[in-house]
Amino acid sequence: MEHRNTEMPGVPFDIRPARAADLQTVVSLDEETTGIAKVAYWKDRLERYAGGQPDRYFLIAEKDGRPAGFIVGEVRAWEFGSPPSGWIFAINVNRAARQDGLGTLLFEAVCDRFRRSGVRQVRTMIAKEDKLVMSFFRSQGMMAGPFIELEKGLAP
Ligand SMILES: CC(C)(COP(=O)(O)OP(=O)(O)OC[C@H]1O[C@@H](n2cnc3c(N)ncnc32)[C@H](O)[C@@H]1OP(=O)(O)O)[C@@H](O)C(=O)NCCC(=O)NCCS
Repeated sequence: MEHRNTEMPGVPFDIRPARAADLQTVVSLDEETTGIAKVAYWKDRLERYAGGQPDRYFLIAEKDGRPAGFIVGEVRAWEFGSPPSGWIFAINVNRAARQDGLGTLLFEAVCDRFRRSGVRQVRTMIAKEDKLVMSFFRSQGMMAGPFIELEKGLAP
């Protein structure tokens, strides 16, 4: 295991790269939170992000040797003029394992990788009404950034 939790001695948390065999674990963790089993979506994400491609990170957290959470992110550059930065686009911790530091460990693990990739900024996007995820990312020191999202409904 490559990322041993040193913050809470005696609590066996580990972080490891995801692999194709984690598909059902990831689908189940996401389904527990969102209520939707997105098998094709997560299969595609694992193929794109878990293969060790540079600047793409799909990490699994294990608690007591069992997968209990994941985080997915990548370094993106120059979209809408934005210099290279780390983007987190999914995080999830099993309900039974929450509020025990696992989400923080995942966040720190992906930020470590972003730093090693040479970027000095990490970004994410959250639903405004999602107070839990907002509280979590604020607890990690994240603040409102310089971009805003715009949208428009499209008539068929
Ligand atoms: C957000 C999430 C990853 C946090 O994971 P976690 O392992 O519980 O996080 P941590 O234990 O590291 O908590 C870190 C901080 O987050 C905040 N936090 C965590 N759970 C919270 C809760 N239920 N209410 C308010 N704040 C909370 C706290 O500030 C906490 O710090 P503290 O323990 O000092 O109070 C987890 O709740 C989750 O997976 N939620 C669903 C995520 C989701 O909707 N994903 C789909 C879209 S990407």
